[in-house]
Amino acid sequence: MFIMAALTALGHLCTEAPFGKLRKERISPWWGPLLPAGIAWFLLEVPNLLGALSVALTCPRADCRQLTVNGFLLMMFLIHYINRSIVYPLRTRGRGTPLAIVLMAMGFCTYNSTMQAHHLCYVARFDSGDGAALLRLILLVAGSLLFLIGFIINVQSDAHLINLRKASTSAGGRPDDHYTMPTGALFEYVSCANYFGESLEWSGYALAAGSLPALSFAVYTWSFLGPRALQQHGWYRAKFDDYPKSRKAIIPWLL
Ligand SMILES: NC(=O)c1ccc[n+]([C@@H]2O[C@H](COP(=O)([O-])OP(=O)(O)OC[C@H]3O[C@@H](n4cnc5c(N)ncnc54)[C@H](OP(=O)(O)O)[C@@H]3O)[C@@H](O)[C@H]2O)c1
Repeated sequence: MFIMAALTALGHLCTEAPFGKLRKERISPWWGPLLPAGIAWFLLEVPNLLGALSVALTCPRADCRQLTVNGFLLMMFLIHYINRSIVYPLRTRGRGTPLAIVLMAMGFCTYNSTMQAHHLCYVARFDSGDGAALLRLILLVAGSLLFLIGFIINVQSDAHLINLRKASTSAGGRPDDHYTMPTGALFEYVSCANYFGESLEWSGYALAAGSLPALSFAVYTWSFLGPRALQQHGWYRAKFDDYPKSRKAIIPWLL
């Protein structure tokens, strides 16, 4: 995961992944046909739900299916992906996504979800009762709060962009040139508030879980969404002359 994160960040330095607003009108046929956004998002994200559930439901240890710390962390992962793989695809009306992107993401999501669930179901133990128990509890509470704040920011910002897109296309914009400048809430501070929320979520999850697999997912998320946010930020600045100069790409006041 850490190697993949480094390669992903490097890849983003060399090229822009062709989906969403960064997809050019004409792209290499190697990327394959375009799938409608809702179908693409469902296909590429649903392995997260299936992967995590299949590990949890077949694990002989029952604590990951109960209200234990393991079960709670698994629930956080599942709640995010119920939204991302079922609710979000039903709502989004974005541009088509090339098949190759969908296939790569499916591979990543299968790998990541089974790894996260395997760690929580088979490896992680939060009941050792040693001297570090208080510290673990503090990290669990702080991480869970960070996850919750990130989740709210992510869902609200996604909804904001979906509404923006609906408004501009129904006002007669061409389907592929429907972009308007996002304003309000965290978009006043960053171009990609949805990415900021998602990155906070997985950072919180890593803090709460205190494990290497969870940390690797948080690092991967930053390494994917950070460079992509910088690219989107550059795109916004090039498209809108009056784009606010003080607005950052992904982290308010910083980056
Ligand atoms: N964990 C991870 O590594 C990871 C990786 C990728 C994505 N995600 C999450 O998946 C979600 C979607 O990602 P994304 O890359 O598709 O986000 P995005 O580029 O911000 O697009 C989200 C939706 O809003 C529309 N939109 C974006 N900017 C707009 C504007 N200025 N005006 C009008 N409509 C606009 C897009 O339409 P178009 O599609 O037509 O541009 C799309 O339907 C995010 O919440 C992100 O955090 C997570």
